[in-house]
Amino acid sequence: MSTAALEVINLKKTYQDKVGDSVVEAVKGINFSIKAGTIFGLLGPNGAGKTTIIAAITTLEKPTSGDVLVFGNSVTEKPLLTKRQVGVVHQEVINTGYFSVAEILDFQSGYYGLFKNKERCEYLMHKLSLHEHREKKTRQLSGGMKRRLMIAKALVHSPKLLLLDEPTAGVDVGLRESLWNFVQELKKDGLSILLTTHYLEEAEQLCDQVAIIHKGQLLFNGHSTDVISQYTLKKFTIFLKNGEKKEFEEATKMGLNEVLVKHQIQLSEIQDIKIEEGKLEKAFAKMVAQ
Ligand SMILES: Nc1ncnc2c1ncn2[C@@H]1O[C@H](COP(=O)(O)OP(=O)(O)OP(=O)(O)O)[C@@H](O)[C@H]1O
Ligand SMILES: [Mg+2]
Repeated sequence: MSTAALEVINLKKTYQDKVGDSVVEAVKGINFSIKAGTIFGLLGPNGAGKTTIIAAITTLEKPTSGDVLVFGNSVTEKPLLTKRQVGVVHQEVINTGYFSVAEILDFQSGYYGLFKNKERCEYLMHKLSLHEHREKKTRQLSGGMKRRLMIAKALVHSPKLLLLDEPTAGVDVGLRESLWNFVQELKKDGLSILLTTHYLEEAEQLCDQVAIIHKGQLLFNGHSTDVISQYTLKKFTIFLKNGEKKEFEEATKMGLNEVLVKHQIQLSEIQDIKIEEGKLEKAFAKMVAQ
């Protein structure tokens, strides 16, 4: 078996409020792993602990207990090695504005000792629709352009694991689609990707696996179709030749034939049928309401 791109092991993070005496248990002992070469969606409502998990992976925050392995190496024991393998796009957009897009990518390459990285930077600017803005300073960029610049920055050193914390927040519909296409291309190139998003429909289409976390705990980890079949129903609308319309909600695993038998409908009576699968959005809402 190949080494997992990421293993989060019994990860706990407790924040101590410096002003008051209160303690926030942001992550309460979470386990999951990401298979190399796949896209993993970390989903959860505001405050669930997603950004805290990302901060632990990049060593911005030290785990209270537990550990994180990147391609088999502990981020607490070998931070320099694991940091080289990871690219991260933070949720908060940084607004410092003095340098141009092209310069920023050049400097970022320099941090990794890559002084002849022009080709890679050009490629990323093209891929992220930044080329025409290459001479603009950060403060002259729109919000969506800034976010794309952050993605380009995260990729200059060709990381093996990419962490995207809400990469499409504030990005318009067309660009969001091209961004997701780009993410899929990166996967084809062999990158492993962890992303957080509140756009559940996109997560459903894009991710090989999803984890749903809530209040620092893992509620589900697996394929999105499994969470959908566990938490939602499939809706059958049957239009009969006599003009009647019948609607049934049944378990996702039920086939059409079983539904017809159960409700005593003959095939010969049917004019048309509409079947609607449950959505991740609905499953998610049900889980976090519990
Ligand atoms: N530096 C910090 N100090 C104290 N508490 C913090 C700190 N960072 C996060 N928290 C708290 O930890 C919990 C988890 O926050 P986190 O940012 O990980 O959530 P999230 O899932 O990323 O949410 P969102 O979807 O809003 O980005 C929240 O209760 C938050 O207030
Ligand atoms: Mg967050």
